[in-house]
Amino acid sequence: MKHVPMGNRRRSWLLLAVLSATLVGALAWWVGGTSERALAAPAAEVSAATLAEGVTEPGVSNDYCLGCHGKPNQVRDLPSGEQHYLTIDSAGYNASVHGSGGYACVQCHTEIRTYPHPESTAQDLRDVTLQNYESCRECHASNFDLTHDSVHQTALDEGNRDAAVCSDCHNPHYQKALTDPSTGELWPNARLAVPQTCARCHSAIYDQYKQSVHGAALLGSADEPGGNADVPTCIDCHGVHNVADPTTASFRLDSPQTCAKCHTDPERMGPYDLSTHVLDTYIADFHGTTVTLFERENPDQETNKPVCSDCHGVHDIRSVADPQKGLQVKQNLLGTCQKCHPDATASFPDSWLSHYVPSADKNPLVYFVDVFYQFFIPIVVGGMVVFVLADAGRRIYQRVKGGAHA
Ligand code: HEC
Ligand code: HEC
Ligand code: HEC
Ligand code: HEC
Ligand code: HEC
Ligand code: HEC
Ligand code: HEC
Ligand code: HEC
Ligand code: HEC
Repeated sequence: MKHVPMGNRRRSWLLLAVLSATLVGALAWWVGGTSERALAAPAAEVSAATLAEGVTEPGVSNDYCLGCHGKPNQVRDLPSGEQHYLTIDSAGYNASVHGSGGYACVQCHTEIRTYPHPESTAQDLRDVTLQNYESCRECHASNFDLTHDSVHQTALDEGNRDAAVCSDCHNPHYQKALTDPSTGELWPNARLAVPQTCARCHSAIYDQYKQSVHGAALLGSADEPGGNADVPTCIDCHGVHNVADPTTASFRLDSPQTCAKCHTDPERMGPYDLSTHVLDTYIADFHGTTVTLFERENPDQETNKPVCSDCHGVHDIRSVADPQKGLQVKQNLLGTCQKCHPDATASFPDSWLSHYVPSADKNPLVYFVDVFYQFFIPIVVGGMVVFVLADAGRRIYQRVKGGAHA
């Protein structure tokens, strides 16, 4: 007996829902159709059915949004006079890491569920970017938190609107997977593309890097094919989401360790026949000793001693054998020393062992003196031991022999 009125009530709810959905749908269609803001939008071409479906569905389907935004050459004029391109390529979106994962437009565009959209307040293209990137936080909170202390966030907080945010480095609609889920490592293509990502805003540094021994190996040059995975990209030295301020004392003092990660690794240096003693020989000499001490005792205090990049450069590092800019060219080396030892003369660098472990072809004099001592000391000490033993033996023998006689 009880279930009859329940059924009636359910039926009337359903009727009400259908009625209101139709009403809202019709209203939305009417507003959409007559809106003067609908610039290039083919609002009238979107059928009431599609729209109504979008409105009543719990999550709005991508087809609904793409019904307008999937059409080519949709643009609107911004108050700044810039044109805002509104077309989203459906195939491109579906192939992206978010589209192929089944993510809906409205999971990022949480404020937009129907047309007309809430009034846009963007004055220019930069506003569009700055108004939308925070939607990433919902699902990528850890990367979002990492950016808090980055140089980019600091610049943004100081009012520099050009500082990088998520969607400057990742296209929200067409981003492909970056990491291999089975290893957590970057896909090789993603790694190759890193310098170009930074180059969008740091093009002068990119141009230097491209010419450097590292950049040429990664990006290719007249004599190299590129694609080398052993050399650093921007983010191996700077980090990604937490790019630190490179002008601080602590960044400078830490920087030799950044270089050392690779330059002391025999596996990585092997193919290039490069010394893996560049860090320990650097630390052992008068310059490195002080830097290392500072790093340990006063990481925030400026030091005037050279770090690797004072001699080798930073973004423009060349092979030491480079005929124009390499440090084997006496004049280049002297110029480097003179940055801090202004009175240095042509023979000044000769006083320095460079940072090689001495060998027959590098610093032969020191090497042969070393070798000499390597033999001289064992021979002298060994000879003494033999002499003392022989002498003791003789004395014992004589005493035993003498005792037997007595
Ligand atoms: C009826 C056509 C139509 C439909 C459907 C539509 N849009 Fe739009 N969209 C437009 C037009 C036209 C603009 C230009 C600005 C305006 O008129 O509000 C726009 C602008 C936008 C913008 C830029 C807003 C800004 O502040 O610059 C975004 C983002 C957007 N739409 C997302 C969506 C999403 C997500 C959906 C699906 C829920 C969707 N649109 C459905 C026509 C449509
Ligand atoms: C992963 C989050 C995300 C998803 C998913 C997403 N968007 Fe966006 N969308 C953004 C962000 C961020 C921007 C601002 C881009 C910028 O900086 O110009 C944006 C901008 C737009 C714009 C303005 C044009 C532009 O590029 O500036 C339109 C239109 C738009 N989105 C429509 C869509 C539609 C349609 C879908 C689904 C097919 C969709 N979006 C899916 C994050 C997303
Ligand atoms: C609704 C949840 C959601 C939102 C919002 C979202 N993403 Fe994602 N994103 C994912 C998922 C799920 C993946 C695939 C799994 C993964 O690799 O983390 C992904 C993958 C990615 C990847 C590739 C990761 C990799 O290792 O290959 C990038 C880059 C990315 N998202 C950037 C963004 C950016 C930028 C925004 C904001 C514009 C954004 N996402 C908003 C859910 C989201
Ligand atoms: C200055 C450029 C830049 C900015 C800004 C940036 N990213 Fe990235 N992001 C990268 C690069 C380059 C990689 C690939 C390198 C890596 O994974 O180590 C990456 C990797 C990722 C990945 C996949 C690997 C991982 O670490 O999980 C996700 C997800 C991601 N970014 C999301 C975001 C989100 C969300 C934001 C905004 C809070 C953001 N990114 C801001 C450049 C940037
Ligand atoms: C959308 C533009 C944009 C992109 C893309 C971008 N940056 Fe930046 N970056 C800026 C702006 C703006 C500043 C702050 C102004 C300045 O000091 O140059 C900045 C500052 C920096 C600084 C500090 C400069 C200083 O003198 O203190 C470093 C380091 C840096 N970015 C590294 C990177 C790296 C690495 C990437 C790529 C992963 C990258 N940026 C991508 C815009 C960008
Ligand atoms: C081998 C390590 C290394 C690589 C690779 C590298 N950097 Fe740097 N970068 C540094 C160091 C060290 C400094 C600090 C330089 C100084 O003390 O003058 C620096 C400084 C900077 C600065 C701020 C100072 C300036 O010169 O404006 C920016 C911006 C920057 N790097 C961006 C980039 C970008 C973009 C790339 C990739 C194209 C890149 N870096 C590649 C090590 C590196
Ligand atoms: C990600 C690993 C990596 C990092 C980090 C790195 N390097 Fe390298 N570096 C290499 C590799 C690999 C080569 C050999 C490239 C080639 O010859 O094609 C190289 C080459 C060089 C050379 C040229 C040697 C010669 O004469 O041929 C110098 C000098 C150099 N690096 C200095 C530095 C300095 C200084 C830093 C830190 C600011 C640094 N590197 C950071 C991997 C690295
Ligand atoms: C005071 C200047 C100076 C400093 C500081 C310095 N170097 Fe060097 N480095 C040189 C000179 C000079 C040479 C090469 C001399 C020659 O071959 O005649 C060299 C050679 C090298 C080579 C080539 C090795 C080979 O086997 O051909 C590498 C790699 C290198 N340095 C890396 C580093 C790293 C990493 C640091 C920091 C830990 C560093 N250097 C600090 C001046 C310096
Ligand atoms: C970034 C600055 C800087 C550069 C570049 C530099 N030096 Fe020095 N050097 C110093 C400072 C500072 C000291 C003092 C060290 C101390 O007293 O602890 C020093 C000390 C020395 C000393 C010890 C004797 C003395 O005068 O106190 C020699 C030898 C020396 N440097 C050689 C060189 C050579 C050779 C080069 C070039 C390959 C070079 N330096 C490049 C800063 C630099």
